Amino acid sequence: MPAADLEDELFPSTPGKFKGERNAHYYFMNRQLHRCFASTSTMFLWALFLIALTASYLSFQSFVDTGSRYFSASWGGIQWENNVRKSAEIRRSGGMSVLVTGAAGFVGSHVSLALKKRGDGVVGIDNFNNYYDPSLKKARKTLLSNHGVFVVEGDINDQKILEKLFDTVAFTHVLHLAAQAGVRYAIENPHSYVHSNIAGLVSLLEVCKSAQPQPSIVWASSSSVYGLNEKSPFSELDRTDRPASLYAATKKAGEEITHTYNHIYGLSITGLRFFTVYGPWGRPDMAYFSFTRNILQGKPITIYRGKNGKELARDFTYIDDVVKGCLGALDTSGQSTGTGGKKRGPAPYRIFNLGNTQPVTVPTLVGILEKNLKVKAKKNVVEMPGNGDVPFTHANISLARRDFGYKPTTDLQTGLKKFVRWCGSSQILGRKILCDP
Ligand SMILES: NC(=O)c1ccc[n+]([C@@H]2O[C@H](COP(=O)([O-])OP(=O)(O)OC[C@H]3O[C@@H](n4cnc5c(N)ncnc54)[C@H](O)[C@@H]3O)[C@@H](O)[C@H]2O)c1
Repeated sequence: MPAADLEDELFPSTPGKFKGERNAHYYFMNRQLHRCFASTSTMFLWALFLIALTASYLSFQSFVDTGSRYFSASWGGIQWENNVRKSAEIRRSGGMSVLVTGAAGFVGSHVSLALKKRGDGVVGIDNFNNYYDPSLKKARKTLLSNHGVFVVEGDINDQKILEKLFDTVAFTHVLHLAAQAGVRYAIENPHSYVHSNIAGLVSLLEVCKSAQPQPSIVWASSSSVYGLNEKSPFSELDRTDRPASLYAATKKAGEEITHTYNHIYGLSITGLRFFTVYGPWGRPDMAYFSFTRNILQGKPITIYRGKNGKELARDFTYIDDVVKGCLGALDTSGQSTGTGGKKRGPAPYRIFNLGNTQPVTVPTLVGILEKNLKVKAKKNVVEMPGNGDVPFTHANISLARRDFGYKPTTDLQTGLKKFVRWCGSSQILGRKILCDP
């Protein structure tokens, strides 16, 4: 349709146009209207009618809004509130009630179970996105539910759901693990990193800052913030202003954003820089997992090599050690000091490395997998493309050891053995959905 015609359709009462089109029907309607509005009392009645019409329209709108929130969304209602309260119940003296974001994720599901096991209250939230197979997230949710942990399906950008959670339970702590993880995926879908790791973080902090009482926050940063740092092992005092990926940049931004909320609103903040976490119920997008799947399926695996033929190395950290680190950080987090959205005194702001302190090269990792799977890998060795990976990671963990006794105890051989056993187990997803040819 030409633009002029479109405009005519949208604005049919354009003066000049109507003039020529006046017909008998038009004049009849005009006379009737004129008669109706002729007397003041009729005009008054018309005004009343219009006011009533507007009022009923507005109340209908508000009904629709409320209705869509309570009836079509997967949260809200008495049963939902009961589930949240029950899940958050503390069953040990001095325990905490923790809101775990990203609870259906790899680390989130493990820490939620550990908290519940020791008698803390736990409520999870997760948006079950499809970055990797959501059926694995659903299976983790079922596992959590079997242990009394309720996971709400929702996005951390949805402030209404977060406020509702805080209205229902006075959470003492938030363990914030929800994020868009993965380094290379940022090239494909950069906005998902901004959505979850920046906008989602701010949305969560906004609700936490206004909550009464304010919770203490422990959240997952990443070893990736060390970026192009060459000094080894990585210490919390090292430079972190040269990220090599958008993922790393959003985690670094998270450290700065949380600092602001600590400074202005008195929120207690602990950032944990995880180093390549692995283990049962792990993430299928990570190398140890996808290598296992490909080796089992007889498919080749791609091994990256650094400049001058240097092997890549990672400070692989077993999930149980990371869980202990998270619990230690929660236990020592100290309190937030704000009330009514205002800071009342200085609150703790901490950052810790949670690594294993023993970097292992990728070919060594493959060798351990081959031994455990009893299958030789078909290897395709290529030079590392410049898509966000760094050549090595190595954690200095002395700060976490000093402040909460963090001491990793599982080496890569032992940890991968447990992972492969989980993968081969038939009653859970491992072999059936993720590892089988
Ligand atoms: N696993 C590692 O090696 C590693 C290393 C460094 C840092 N981290 C960080 O640790 C945290 C946990 O990692 P993981 O390995 O368990 O990853 P994961 O992807 O298994 O877990 C993250 C969970 O958050 C959920 N999520 C993402 N965006 C969300 C949103 N907007 N709202 C609600 N839920 C959302 C996802 O559905 C997922 O279940 C992440 O913050 C990650 O960046 C992990």
